[in-house]
Amino acid sequence: MSLLDAAREIRKNAYAPYSGFKVGAALRTKAGHVHAGCNVENAAYPEGTCAEAGAIAAMVAAGETEIAEVAVIAESPEPVSPCGGCRQKLAEFAGPDAIVTMATTAGAVATATVAELLPGAFRKSHMDEN
Ligand code: THU
Repeated sequence: MSLLDAAREIRKNAYAPYSGFKVGAALRTKAGHVHAGCNVENAAYPEGTCAEAGAIAAMVAAGETEIAEVAVIAESPEPVSPCGGCRQKLAEFAGPDAIVTMATTAGAVATATVAELLPGAFRKSHMDEN
């Protein structure tokens, strides 16, 4: 199954009764394993979580921390773009050259690197002592 297919599949489980906007995300780790997540909304709106955050949580829970590639899909007029917070979350575990595939359920696809999505990302190395 392709990474995009894994995202498409888990999107079916999205819990989005408030926005009605279901999102699926899947990531492949450098070790070759796939972890996926969907958005999970909440009656207290800010408590909802994005699909990318779910996929990252599944990866870390499985004992992995290195993202090689990401795919995100939603029913949207144009390929769904990870929110600002998720760009920062992805940058924590993916190198700047990791490819993020953004897709619509209708078949449109766009790609960007993590660095293109979040130029100048704040990273752990910024906290290194001089
Ligand atoms: N959402 C995601 O899960 N990922 C994105 O990249 C964009 C937005 C979710 C959050 C919320 O549940 C719904 O889409 C509408 O913002």
